Amino acid sequence: MRLILLGAPGAGKGTQAQFICEQYKIPQISTGDMLRTAVKEGSELGLKVKEIMTSGGLVSDDVIIALVKERIAQPDCKNGFLFDGFPRTIPQADAMKEAGVKLDHVLEIAVPDEEIVNRLGGRRVHPASGRVYHVDYNPPKEPGKDDVTGEPLIQRDDDQESTVRNRLAVYHDQTAPLVDYYQQWAKEDPQAAPAYHRVEGIGSVDDITRQVMEALKS
Ligand code: AP5
Ligand code: ZN
Repeated sequence: MRLILLGAPGAGKGTQAQFICEQYKIPQISTGDMLRTAVKEGSELGLKVKEIMTSGGLVSDDVIIALVKERIAQPDCKNGFLFDGFPRTIPQADAMKEAGVKLDHVLEIAVPDEEIVNRLGGRRVHPASGRVYHVDYNPPKEPGKDDVTGEPLIQRDDDQESTVRNRLAVYHDQTAPLVDYYQQWAKEDPQAAPAYHRVEGIGSVDDITRQVMEALKS
């Protein structure tokens, strides 16, 4: 199974990715998580992208495409993978098409902008695993601590309200056109194109997981 999770910042891509990856036994490829790790390690890549990420802008297509191509060549991707936060621009999507990366599904999680600001304000993450919580909507068993390791949860640097607004603007400008891109492709060439599904991302996490699993079976 090879699939793309498409959706605005805070739509719940990371949250649903955990369930899908467990169910289908595939790795989650989150370009955001990969870049945050690079920033934390202070690698050359990390130094290059730190400022862009803090402002909510997009890292250049060349850098991202190279990163993803290297990642999907690894042995654990042989039986499939889930893209979370990639592709995010038309050139990134074209690069996968040109490289002949065959995808089974594109799953859009649709959430209105007003809801996003609430969600990201209350988000807490476990940086080492990428596990995601929300102080009200999806709280950890013990406040401030990861359910599995008990390690402290943190807030992401780019979850400040002003940065969230910028990320949303960037999403509508650069990423939302991919909705049309994949829908058109599925209409024109259903053999080659991934199947397109849209799930409304408002409701409980469990409820949305059920809809997601249903869509992926079809
Ligand atoms: P990235 O890490 O990809 O961030 P994003 O796309 O902005 O998405 P988020 O991780 O913020 O949201 P999510 O949809 O995963 O939501 P989550 O499940 O956490 O990218 C970060 C940055 O890296 C970018 O800004 C860019 O600079 C750079 N970058 C990354 N990829 C790139 C690329 N391909 N090209 C260029 N640059 C790139 O949920 C959010 C919150 O809501 C959580 O608290 C969660 O608990 C809660 N929640 C989830 N579901 C529900 C629900 N049903 N009801 C209530 N609350 C819920
Ligand atoms: Zn995420």
